[in-house]
Amino acid sequence: MDLPRVVFFGRTGADALAFFNLDLADWRGHRVLDCPGGPGSFTALARAAGVESVAADPLYTLSLPELERRCRDDVAFTMERLALSPTLRPDFDQDRFRQGKMEALEAFLADRREHPQAYRAAALPCLPFEAASFDLVLSGHLLFCYAPIADGGLSEQPDFDLDWHRRALAELLRVSRQEVRIYPAHTIERHPRVHPWVEPLLAGLPPGWQGQLEPTTYDEGFEGETPMLRLRRHIAPSPSGPEAH
Ligand SMILES: C[S@@+](CC[C@H](N)C(=O)[O-])C[C@H]1O[C@@H](n2cnc3c(N)ncnc32)[C@H](O)[C@@H]1O
Repeated sequence: MDLPRVVFFGRTGADALAFFNLDLADWRGHRVLDCPGGPGSFTALARAAGVESVAADPLYTLSLPELERRCRDDVAFTMERLALSPTLRPDFDQDRFRQGKMEALEAFLADRREHPQAYRAAALPCLPFEAASFDLVLSGHLLFCYAPIADGGLSEQPDFDLDWHRRALAELLRVSRQEVRIYPAHTIERHPRVHPWVEPLLAGLPPGWQGQLEPTTYDEGFEGETPMLRLRRHIAPSPSGPEAH
C-alpha cells in the first residue's frame, strides 16, 4: 500500500501488546512512552493495568473534535487505499481491521478527555523529554513503515529517509533508560522482508545499546514474518547524559 501522508490512524492497546510482544505486568511501576501515540488506545490500556504511560504525537496540538474528525477522515481514506492494495492477503478481514481503529479512537478520546496530561504534542526527531526519563519507549507504525516506497515503506514522500531514521532512533534511545521497541521492522509488501535500514541502524547504535529482531504474531494482512525491533541498554545511562532538546 502507498500513502501520500502520515495518517492519524491508531491501533488498540491489545494490538500494541501483540506487535510489541509486550506483557504490561513486566512494566508495573515503570514509565512508558508511546511515540507516536496517534489516536490509539495503548496509553489508556496501560494506565488501566497500572503502568504509567505518556503518548506523544505532533497532532496532539489539535482539539478533541479536530482529532476525532482527522482520525475518521484518515481511517476512511486509508481503508479505501487498503482495499485496492496488492500488499494485502485476500482473506484479510478489512471490516474487522476498520472496527479496531474505531474502538481505538473511542478509547483514545475518552482517555485524553480525562487525562490530558498523558498526551504530549511532540515530533521526532526532537522530543521534549529529559534523557532516560522513560523505562520503555515504544514506537509503532512510523519508522520503517513511512520510509519512501522505493526504500520499502509506504510513503509517497521522501521526508522519512535514512538520515531521518538515524536521528529519530537516536532520540528514542536518548529518552529511554532500558528499552526501545519499534514495529514494524519489515518492508510494506505482500511478502515482507526485514527493512533494509535495520542493518545500518543496528550498526550505528550508540555505546551501551544492543538490538535484535523478534518475530510477532500481529496480523495486518501480510504473508510471512512481521518482526519487531527490540533495543536494550546493557550499560546504565550516565546521570549527566544529554539534555532534552
Ligand atoms: C499510523 S499512525 C501510528 C499510531 C500508532 N503508533 C499505531 O501504531 O497505530 C502514525 C502517527 O505518526 C504521527 N507522526 C507524524 N509525524 C511524526 C513525527 N515526526 N514524530 C512523531 N510522530 C509523527 C502521526 O500524527 C500519526 O499519529
